[in-house]
Amino acid sequence: MDLRKRNFLTLLDYTPEEIRYLLDLSKDFKNKKHNSIEHRYLKGKNIVLLFEKTSTRTRCAFEVAGLDLGMGVTYLDPGSSQMGKKESIEDTAKVLGRMYDGIEYRGYDQKIVETLAEHAGVPVWNGLTTDFHPTQMLADVMTVEENFGHLDGIKLVFFGDARNNVANSLMVVCAKMGMHFVSCGPKDLWPDSTLVEKCRNIAEETGATIEMTEDVLKASENADVIYTDVWVSMGEPDEVWNERIKLLSPYQVNKKIMDNANENAIFLHCLPSFHDLNTTIGKDIYEKYGLKEMEVTDEVFTSDKSKVFDEAENRLHTIKAVVYATMREDNE
Ligand code: CP
Ligand code: NVA
Repeated sequence: MDLRKRNFLTLLDYTPEEIRYLLDLSKDFKNKKHNSIEHRYLKGKNIVLLFEKTSTRTRCAFEVAGLDLGMGVTYLDPGSSQMGKKESIEDTAKVLGRMYDGIEYRGYDQKIVETLAEHAGVPVWNGLTTDFHPTQMLADVMTVEENFGHLDGIKLVFFGDARNNVANSLMVVCAKMGMHFVSCGPKDLWPDSTLVEKCRNIAEETGATIEMTEDVLKASENADVIYTDVWVSMGEPDEVWNERIKLLSPYQVNKKIMDNANENAIFLHCLPSFHDLNTTIGKDIYEKYGLKEMEVTDEVFTSDKSKVFDEAENRLHTIKAVVYATMREDNE
């Protein structure tokens, strides 16, 4: 398997075998990290992390992955580079590509990360766009595999804003890995039909299935993995909260949903999550709408079925695998 110099923009560009290779590499890195086995394989190289939106997990995973691999890491926070305002994406890519050996981008349109990749001359990794969040997916399926021992045939159900970056990407990874994917949310928020069509075509090859429904009980029946994400994503205006709350409240992940799923079902969430009142947005929403918890109840979030912090840790190991596989010089 040779992923050297490849970009990582969406999992649509990766074969199931390549995804499997990245997952195996992630497992190996997790083992090395847990056993304090040094792995400074990319000493002397440098990477830059371009963030146009905020982040905890993705930023820290890329930083620690870079440092563990022996590299220098530069973080550019939202607003601190010339990109977009005074300098085009193309020129920025050309400049950064002369200085760095790899570029991570988090921000808006998928087109931006594609333009960076086209002109940088070094690997570009998508750390979340409006359309996709591919590094998150590797951590998610790694966590599924840790719990069930395999991916094929696993039924994963996403509840909520079924056309956001995380939901879109889950549909892609499930299609690629032969899983049964169900998107459960209001029709108005179902994913783009072209993407669904693409995923259904992939599913025909891998034995996966792709389903959309508004029926919460039907969706959660026989589910192995229950997944949700925030109702309003970064970059969306505050005005959409009102409508989203109305549309998505029936799709909140609660005990009833977990009880309707398989007995050994797990709960996943990419995080951050609104499951209590310990955030400023959570408090604001409570004051305006009287909601104490949103996409998931605190009861489910804090239950034994919830594997969200294993999932968050796996961001580090999987991002390290992507960075290493695309940047390594040898292929021994
Ligand atoms: N899940 C995720 O991408 O988290 P951050 O926004 O904190 O990076
Ligand atoms: N859908 C969320 C994911 C955050 C990791 C967002 O884009 O804000």
